[in-house]
Amino acid sequence: MTQAKVDVLLGLQWGDEGKGKVVDVLTPGYDAVARFQGGPNAGHTLEFDGKKFVLKSIPSGVFQGDKVNVIGNGMVLDAALFKAEATALEEAGVNLKDRLYISKKAHLILPTHRLLDSALEGSKGAGKVGTTGRGIGPTYTDKVARTGLRVGDILSPDFEQKYRNAKASHLRTLDSLGFEYDLSATEPAWYDGIEYMRQFKFIDSEHCINNMLREGRTILCEGAQGTMLDIDFGSYPFVTSSNTVCAGACTGLGIAPNRIGRVYGIMKAYCTRVGSGPFPTELFDADGEALSVRGHEFGAVTGRRRRCGWVDLVALKYAVTLNGVTDIILMKSDVLDTFSTIKACVAYILPDGTQTDEFPFDCEGVTPVYEEFPGWRTELCGMKNENEFPEEFNSYISFLEQYLETPVTIISVGPDRNQTIRRGE
Ligand code: GDP
Ligand code: IMO
Ligand code: MG
Repeated sequence: MTQAKVDVLLGLQWGDEGKGKVVDVLTPGYDAVARFQGGPNAGHTLEFDGKKFVLKSIPSGVFQGDKVNVIGNGMVLDAALFKAEATALEEAGVNLKDRLYISKKAHLILPTHRLLDSALEGSKGAGKVGTTGRGIGPTYTDKVARTGLRVGDILSPDFEQKYRNAKASHLRTLDSLGFEYDLSATEPAWYDGIEYMRQFKFIDSEHCINNMLREGRTILCEGAQGTMLDIDFGSYPFVTSSNTVCAGACTGLGIAPNRIGRVYGIMKAYCTRVGSGPFPTELFDADGEALSVRGHEFGAVTGRRRRCGWVDLVALKYAVTLNGVTDIILMKSDVLDTFSTIKACVAYILPDGTQTDEFPFDCEGVTPVYEEFPGWRTELCGMKNENEFPEEFNSYISFLEQYLETPVTIISVGPDRNQTIRRGE
């Protein structure tokens, strides 16, 4: 029997492309959804039936019937935040306990990891990454240092001892940094979260996923963050601490590379970034302000204002290549509805004066070269079919497809589930 393949959906920019919305839209076509990296640094927004939800650690397939949703081994989980997120969903009528499975190999974010995140950021001064403060970096650091605690450890009789050892080591680091802390509120909530987590099915996600594939069942793998925040290929050191690229789905779920089918790469029609780090096309003018206001560009996790700029095709081409993107999903074009001119960066001029369309080792200090397009100045948000698209918008899409050598197959024209147009239907 031929095994099924998994499809992967991931962000091509610096995160917040609209991954949550599209996972929700695509879920009816799959048997399961599995998140492969990151943790509660993610904020994935879904809107339908006049309701809005922001998911952090829980996969975005939970609102579409009784599909299986998997938290993969590549993820990091904060028990207290997980409990808060899951109970809020249960209160909203979402049945989670029977169909949300958690990998035993996912790593636990401890209360002291969050403290370490703040302490390390504080010690970096102006060079801080601008993390989400959720303890992501320190937890992945412990994973790689082979000192982390995993979900499966919760079931072990010496869990308490393992926790105390890790905590003691973290407190020594915090003391050496002169960081003042108070665990009296966060530690009980975390323990409470650990007890709550015991009600869920802890699985070996690699077996679960591969057995599903053997049975011919289909899986959509959900990425968090974006390619330009990848620990290897992003704008290091201003990145997150996991592999956000497609290969992360292999290591973060236990999927062989030849089992990957379609790769959906999600991009906004412009670009945003939260936190520090280079952002070649960032705008500091009225256009940047208009993108921020019209796009409601405030972080779903920390509420921080997202930096806004024109779409960066140099970075996008790099992301398409690294991920083997088969389909581009274009989000938030409606935010550009009022613009008379739209720009797209097609090359960088490096500090030494040379021009390139290859993403460089360091994109700090590059000058973007723009191509300009006439705006469509028409409201896209009510459109239901691509036949309704204005000519200028079609030309813009064609240009993106040519430059990125990849078809744009889905276009989102608003935050709601229904504001999604599949091309060629
Ligand atoms: P994610 O982290 O990739 O899931 O994206 P976020 O949820 O952090 O940010 C995307 C934001 O854009 C959310 O507020 C969505 O509700 C909203 N959104 C998604 N698609 C569209 C769209 O096509 N148009 C508009 N105007 N908003 C959208
Ligand atoms: P979603 O999944 C946008 C950014 C932070 C910071 C850097 C490192 O919603 O797209 P971390 O807390 O991960 O150590 O922070 O990465 N960052 C995100 N930016 N969207 C996200 O997730 C992000 N997750 C982390 O702002 O610059
Ligand atoms: Mg987000």
